[in-house]
Amino acid sequence: MFGLNDKHVVISGAGGGIGRSIVAAFQAAGARVTACDRDAALLDALDGVTKSVFELTDADATEQAVAAIVAEQGAPDVLVSNAGFSRAETMAGVNQQSWNQEVDINLTGSFNLIDPMLKAMIANGGGAVVMTSTVNALGHYGNPAYAAAKAGLVAYMRAIAVELGQDNIRANCICPGSVRTPAWDHRVAKDPDLLAKVVAHYPLGKLATPADVANAAVFLASPLAGAITGVALPVDAGLTAGNLRFIREVL
Ligand SMILES: NC(=O)c1ccc[n+]([C@@H]2O[C@H](COP(=O)([O-])OP(=O)(O)OC[C@H]3O[C@@H](n4cnc5c(N)ncnc54)[C@H](O)[C@@H]3O)[C@@H](O)[C@H]2O)c1
Repeated sequence: MFGLNDKHVVISGAGGGIGRSIVAAFQAAGARVTACDRDAALLDALDGVTKSVFELTDADATEQAVAAIVAEQGAPDVLVSNAGFSRAETMAGVNQQSWNQEVDINLTGSFNLIDPMLKAMIANGGGAVVMTSTVNALGHYGNPAYAAAKAGLVAYMRAIAVELGQDNIRANCICPGSVRTPAWDHRVAKDPDLLAKVVAHYPLGKLATPADVANAAVFLASPLAGAITGVALPVDAGLTAGNLRFIREVL
């Protein structure tokens, strides 16, 4: 149904909470997956994939990894740029060091992977790029440096969509709301009741799951979305549609 049978799909952050689900969803659609992460141990649990371990903020290492993936597995039909990281929760945590770290990983690190992959994809006749951005790129929900980097990713995605459409490249972003993955462990460790407070902000009364994000990635990458490019798609259980607490508490 998704037209992804035997297609080559490269996924970064593949060992993380959302990444593992993206790998599983593309495998279920029949794709050949190259799973990338900086943490080899996180890739151990993945079966039936080709594994590639490299640090995205190291531009040379990333370019070498891309060359090796393309030489061994061919250019990807689909690139899912999914790795990301944030710790500086509010403006109080933003300083030169945290700003540089979060822009390096989330924006420049994504560029380090996407740029050389795009060249291989274009030489191969085109393909689809899906980036995992966040609702923080669409409105402010905390994590200022991460939010700025992820908004930069949306702008970069649009540039690819507009300029490289003629090369048969489509590019889209997914903007997830809160998803319970290891990325939340440090917050839940501080406040074990945190997730109940988080859910209260979501119109659907639940959080998106890693599988919800993965399903959106499969759709956007597939020929079913063949005329969709340049879009930032919230997968956020309604968070960005409006302010539920305002409705409940004010009106
Ligand atoms: N969990 C959420 O609530 C949420 C919400 C919106 C967006 N996102 C985004 O979804 C994506 C996946 O997040 P997750 O929740 O699965 O987090 P996660 O921490 O479980 O997984 C992130 C993965 O990316 C890898 N990674 C991080 N920095 C890297 C680097 N510099 N080089 C190579 N690999 C690197 C990590 O090793 C990890 O396996 C991220 O881009 C994140 O910003 C997550």
